[in-house]
Amino acid sequence: MNSENLDKEARARVVIALDYPEPGLALDLVHDLAGRVAIFKIGLQLYTAAGPEIVRAVTATGAKVFLDLKLHDIPNTVGKAVGAAAALGVRMLTIHLSGGSRMIEAAVAACPADLLLLGVTVLTSSNEETLRETGIENSSVADQVLRLAELAQRAGVGGLIASPHELEALRERVGHGIKIITPGVRPSWAAANDQQRVMTPREAIARGADYLVIGRPVTAHEEPAAALQKIFAELEN
Ligand code: C5P
Repeated sequence: MNSENLDKEARARVVIALDYPEPGLALDLVHDLAGRVAIFKIGLQLYTAAGPEIVRAVTATGAKVFLDLKLHDIPNTVGKAVGAAAALGVRMLTIHLSGGSRMIEAAVAACPADLLLLGVTVLTSSNEETLRETGIENSSVADQVLRLAELAQRAGVGGLIASPHELEALRERVGHGIKIITPGVRPSWAAANDQQRVMTPREAIARGADYLVIGRPVTAHEEPAAALQKIFAELEN
């Protein structure tokens, strides 16, 4: 493969998180990185502040949008919300797998082929105590992650969100027919910030991640385009 193809491949795997309080700052970054980033992630903060208009504005630059709303509601409502996101043109969308099979199946049924539906298993901010206090008595976090991943796979969900440290166990359990997207990655030169157990982008890909979600190592860098280029270079070498 020549270097341009390699670059394309690395580029296609990196999702940049637009964790901003308002659309102006987000769009400044999108324009700064135009043509280099294939997918931008819009999460609860920015979507709540800026609404569907920010999705349209990012899409208008030619980039794809990953809408990270972590849907969790009754099956009918989740199905309708998936349909609304599809109509907006988003290309990746998250649901909480703890909503159960009926909710997951409603989401899958409403999901068109060009929208990758992603299941969130156990948030990395949760621990065994969180499971216990919410009534999950007999499961470790690791077991609960695998259990929810199996639910997702049975229902036909296209991908999973996972910590890089869950990658190997997940691949062993669900195989390679499902995409895995990992946040919590940090190049060796970047600060860990509040992420507790990080892994480098290269290592995460080697362990089976299909996509990486990267925020502050790029967005908080004084030269985001240079930081991104450095990450691509590390993925290629
Ligand atoms: O700035 P940073 O690279 O830590 O951003 C990571 C992104 O991935 C943020 O949007 C964060 O909300 C999201 N995320 C995460 N850990 C999870 C799930 C999502 O960091 N377990």
